[in-house]
Amino acid sequence: MIIVGLNAYHGDVSAALVRDGQLIAAIEEERFRRIKHCAGFPHLALAECLRMAGVTSSDVDLFAVSRDPRAHLWRKALYLLRHRPRGTVGDRARNVLKIRSLPNTIAASLDLDPSRVRRRTVTVEHHPAHLASAAYVSPFNSAAVCAIDGFGDFVSTSWGVLDGTRIGVRGRVYFPHSLGMLYLAVTQYLGFPKYGDEFKVMGLAPYGEPSFTRELGSLVHVGDNGGFELDLSYFKHWSEGVSMTWDDGEPTIGTVFTPKLEALLGPARRPSDPLTARHEALAASLQTVFEDAAMKVLNHVQRSTGRTRLCYAGGCAMNSVANGKIRSRTGFTDVFIQPASGDNGTALGAAFEAWHRHSKAPRAFVMEHGYWGPDFSDAQIAATLDGAHAEIQASGCVRRELPDEQAVAEWTARQIADGRVIGWFQGRMEWGARALGNRSILADPRRADMREIINTRIKFRERFRPFAPSILEEAVQEYFIDGVIDPFMLHVYPIRPEKRALVPAITHVDGSGRLQTVSRRSNPLYWTLINAFRTITGVPMLLNTSFNENEPIVLTPAEALDCFLRTSMDVIVLGRHVLERAPVAAAGGAPGVRAGGVS
Ligand SMILES: [Fe+2]
Repeated sequence: MIIVGLNAYHGDVSAALVRDGQLIAAIEEERFRRIKHCAGFPHLALAECLRMAGVTSSDVDLFAVSRDPRAHLWRKALYLLRHRPRGTVGDRARNVLKIRSLPNTIAASLDLDPSRVRRRTVTVEHHPAHLASAAYVSPFNSAAVCAIDGFGDFVSTSWGVLDGTRIGVRGRVYFPHSLGMLYLAVTQYLGFPKYGDEFKVMGLAPYGEPSFTRELGSLVHVGDNGGFELDLSYFKHWSEGVSMTWDDGEPTIGTVFTPKLEALLGPARRPSDPLTARHEALAASLQTVFEDAAMKVLNHVQRSTGRTRLCYAGGCAMNSVANGKIRSRTGFTDVFIQPASGDNGTALGAAFEAWHRHSKAPRAFVMEHGYWGPDFSDAQIAATLDGAHAEIQASGCVRRELPDEQAVAEWTARQIADGRVIGWFQGRMEWGARALGNRSILADPRRADMREIINTRIKFRERFRPFAPSILEEAVQEYFIDGVIDPFMLHVYPIRPEKRALVPAITHVDGSGRLQTVSRRSNPLYWTLINAFRTITGVPMLLNTSFNENEPIVLTPAEALDCFLRTSMDVIVLGRHVLERAPVAAAGGAPGVRAGGVS
């Protein structure tokens, strides 16, 4: 049975294909459209999932859509009657119409008969899709499940239990109360207006002292039953016309906070204003208030379900700093979060929810790695490089081909140890927001200057943004306090104090690191590379950041080559093919790293 899950007309639209209970392919539309968090309908992701699975559109048995406009209808109606919100009704009604006509859109996209698609389309409410996205691909048979996000189908938080192939929902928090909305409001206030900017505030938080927790704590009240309420006088998403666009392209959300927030905290920061200690303190305070609220919810989930394992999802489960504290601040002993825990993951969840509704088979899939996108053959890579011959020659790069994967790992490890910045393009593309060693920029974590070099010369992003390490699975305890196996880079843990000076480029200002563990089993080439670096340097980790420059992660060899040529990376390794910039004597920069920004 072939099921395609779809997240459409929301942020991070995506597709996932499940065959007989096994995940075959999953990818976000942004990777094709080259627009971050791309909304609309995932035409290209859908087509690519079919291609990766080697099936045609008429082979698909079910299309599972991760929205259900009929969910919680009486609550929505009651809310509209009571509050008569201005302006938002039209936007929402248009979005609902698009969701309702999804079978027609799918049919048009795949050139299928609309009535046939209608018969084969099932809807899975947004939050159950989040819960399923974690629970049904987790290694657990029995666990608590929880999703915390902005909103979807009128719900912002839900929890329950997983028992085998069944998820029972036990609690929900409804619109307009939302921890995601709390984080979004203060993120906007701090001058980060783009969709998905919350992670920048999370990265800024460790620079400040949480001296505004009393003020920001007044924005949310958390009860003892897992529920919480926002002080709605600080928010306008529930009453006024906050514009939200989920059409083709980048999603946008208008300002969601009211002037009362500025009365409480002072004037909001404009995006062009400098970041001050006050902004750092506000970011730290927001992170503290969010963590306290989330832990209260999760503690309730743990106690009320009696389970010690947690499957966690929703946009707020991308808060890796909070995630790293779940085991120490709640009764949960094991936490599973899959790499696309934001709305992209609802395509995956909808597909698995549909599978378990229609099949009596026991679960037979655990997500052990995040490589569910397309790959490119050696011949395709070679053809890309041949086609760009003139450009490559003009850039002064030397092209070579290494004999096998062992040689690729050993040669690249030596380059990294010598201080060079590597574009690393291998195998299937990552699913989710993080590069996990197949579309990555890699560098030496021992070099204190590497963060500045990559942030300002290669990625052209804020100086305060931290970098994460990929560490051999076997060495986690040696470097991290309380660190556990996480192949998806979704938990931040303290680095052991005695190790921090050894790896300054991946040690955040508070001594923490957002680690990715790499196993020999799930990514043998990447493991071999890091192991070769350990042989040379004694350090079992690399600095790993996504292969991109203010764009979605590169998907194709051509995009990787283009990113390499327009930035100051020293080397690109695509499969066995290598392009190497001629070494430049350190002219004011670090040895081995080209000076001068964009080439
Ligand atoms: Fe969501």
